[in-house]
Amino acid sequence: LLFESPDQSPLHVPVLLEETMEIIAPKSGDVLLDCTVGTGGHSVEFLKRSAPDGKVIALDRDDEMLRLAREQFERHNVDATRYQLICGNYEDLEAILARLGSISIDAVLIDCGLSSAALDAGERGMSFLRDGPLLLVYERDAQYTAEDLVNTMAEDELSAIIRRLGEERNARRIARAIVAARREKRITRTVELAQIVSKVVPRPMHPKRIHPATKTFLAIRMFLNRELEALRAGVPAALRVVKPNGKVLVISYQSQEDRIVKQVFNEAARACVCPPEQPVCTCGGKPRFRVLTPKPISPTRNEIERNPRSRSAKLRAIEKIV
Ligand SMILES: C[S@@+](CC[C@H](N)C(=O)[O-])C[C@H]1O[C@@H](n2cnc3c(N)ncnc32)[C@H](O)[C@@H]1O
Repeated sequence: LLFESPDQSPLHVPVLLEETMEIIAPKSGDVLLDCTVGTGGHSVEFLKRSAPDGKVIALDRDDEMLRLAREQFERHNVDATRYQLICGNYEDLEAILARLGSISIDAVLIDCGLSSAALDAGERGMSFLRDGPLLLVYERDAQYTAEDLVNTMAEDELSAIIRRLGEERNARRIARAIVAARREKRITRTVELAQIVSKVVPRPMHPKRIHPATKTFLAIRMFLNRELEALRAGVPAALRVVKPNGKVLVISYQSQEDRIVKQVFNEAARACVCPPEQPVCTCGGKPRFRVLTPKPISPTRNEIERNPRSRSAKLRAIEKIV
């Protein structure tokens, strides 16, 4: 079994759950588009609070997550008419919704990144702690994986990706070590890569509680799965599909993700659409969105203690006002 929790603890603890629900304020009859259902933590809570008639359209690009989400819904005795599970990338959410016919969406949630369920299953090839094939891709049939990347990419490009997406100060050193290691032997396992990285990240630089390979793995995963590109396309699409008075919420875990969300939200909430060089507004524009989180919401100390993986989370939300 790929996904098994030995002590029955949840496979993934939903992040900022209460804060998210407070903003969505679910009511019976509401529809949530959960773009990243994972093991269904946020969706189940929404379904409980929007009983008896609330519905979820649940997307995930990882088909295994959809199976786990279905199990979760069944475990909570949610009527099967109240959810739809769809395998897909949320960057295509408009095309996906178009196939479902006209549905009024009250809230859209994007909870970026990786589910702990996938991270903790070594065989999924996502973890620097558990041995497995070196994959780092959400789609299990992906043709190009982390193994291909670390064994073929030019050192400079590798270093640039690790620095840019992982915000890793030791990127150059890490890229050099990867290239030296692959000359000896093809790198094929997650822990092999983790060891290569750990050897060249100086000990005093290890941030507290963070494994030295964390940022390198994050960078390679984000690159392979085009995660920033999905967000850049997906957030504006979410703003287009949500109904008036509906809300869009994004939980991000990396500063570049948060920057994209902030920019798209601020741009959407701008009333005036005159060119920036024009000294006086002539468009008389009215804002179509209202940012609900001028500053992003972060997990409390208590939540971080209970779930250290929530530590970098930032929640931003916006409401459509026309
Ligand atoms: C952090 S988890 C979501 C956890 C979920 N909110 C819960 O409480 O269980 C993120 C999920 O999004 C999926 N994912 C990542 N990028 C995606 C994309 N562009 N489109 C659809 N799903 C995506 C991942 O496979 C993963 O299952």
